[in-house]
Amino acid sequence: MGLFSSNKDDNDNNAPKGEINSLGIDLGTLNTVVAKPSGDKFDLYQIPSVVAVKRDDQSSVLAVGEEAKLMLGRTPEDIIALRPLKKGVIESVVQAQALLMKAMEIGRKEKEKVGRIVIGIPGDSTEVEKKAAEEIGIKAGADFVLVINEGLASAIGSGLPIAKPNGILIVDVGAGSTDLVVISLGGITDIQTVRYGGDDIDNNIVKIVKEKFNVEIGIHEAEQSKINVGLVKSSSKDLENLTMETIGKSVETNRPEKVIIDSQLVSEAVEPIIAEIIVALNQILKRLSPELIAGVYHNSLAVGGGSQLRGLKERICDEFKIPIKISNDPMTVVAKGAAIVAAEPRALEPEVRLSGFK
Ligand SMILES: Nc1ncnc2c1ncn2[C@@H]1O[C@H](COP(=O)(O)OP(=O)(O)OP(=O)(O)O)[C@@H](O)[C@H]1O
Ligand SMILES: [Mg+2]
Repeated sequence: MGLFSSNKDDNDNNAPKGEINSLGIDLGTLNTVVAKPSGDKFDLYQIPSVVAVKRDDQSSVLAVGEEAKLMLGRTPEDIIALRPLKKGVIESVVQAQALLMKAMEIGRKEKEKVGRIVIGIPGDSTEVEKKAAEEIGIKAGADFVLVINEGLASAIGSGLPIAKPNGILIVDVGAGSTDLVVISLGGITDIQTVRYGGDDIDNNIVKIVKEKFNVEIGIHEAEQSKINVGLVKSSSKDLENLTMETIGKSVETNRPEKVIIDSQLVSEAVEPIIAEIIVALNQILKRLSPELIAGVYHNSLAVGGGSQLRGLKERICDEFKIPIKISNDPMTVVAKGAAIVAAEPRALEPEVRLSGFK
């Protein structure tokens, strides 16, 4: 058996090299990103991870991506818009397959066949979840499918030295979950997943605004305030308190009401999530072998949309004395890493990894 799952016979199973069409796909809770190698760059496409289905037959997918997102909250009662992934895990295979098919359709030219896809999945996925992702890739029409850990894909996509025997730490703060992954010699040596991410921060902001001002704001306004004035508590004095005005619905009068959300408020909403991440990182460091600590010190990287929160880097440095870097490409790096492996699957083979440090 080769690395890839395939709908071809076994002889063919180790995907062919060369000009075969390859795509890297990050099936995220909120966004699905497709990267297609094009010379030494990538063509990148992004769609919201949303599908519209019939309420009484949720395997009947009516629309996918942007089109489905537009239906959110605006559809007739018999149509509902859903996310096929929850907390980074595939909830509905049929819906996730529709999403993947759309992603592949966007990522290829007309009539072009997709030969090889590599899908990034969360670190703690079970064998069953892994198989489900492989299966939907084959069903969606790819000849060869490989599923790899998102943390590993991020490290490859960021150009970190994965083949070296030193440690690398990836902290991926996504919408539904945060993955902590340690990598050495091209393989995963430790993983810890926290089932909290940016979505939970948004929900907390809604809750705190309601408690403080007696005003209910929409989840999109909450997300916007997190993005615009967000902050993680830290010892740094350089991160100023920003403010932003938004409109919510007064609980007392049911009228629109202005509220001012500041960084302080968002940092309160972030705190329970950051506390979980700190617990998980403590566990990772407790298990980490002394051989890997210097590598982790030099090669720690935060990725995922949530890594852009101001103060995250400073807080991690306060807590762990690790000068973590924030990716300058946090939302597409998983898809890029997957695309690199799709174009050259041998990057993952032990002989190639080992030759990296001869
Ligand atoms: N500038 C920003 N500051 C803070 N958070 C941000 C920023 N930009 C995006 N986000 C948040 O990042 C999250 C989306 O990130 P990402 O696309 O990495 O998630 P995902 O891959 O879909 O989710 P998961 O990895 O959990 O499956 C959302 O919660 C979004 O609000
Ligand atoms: Mg992600």
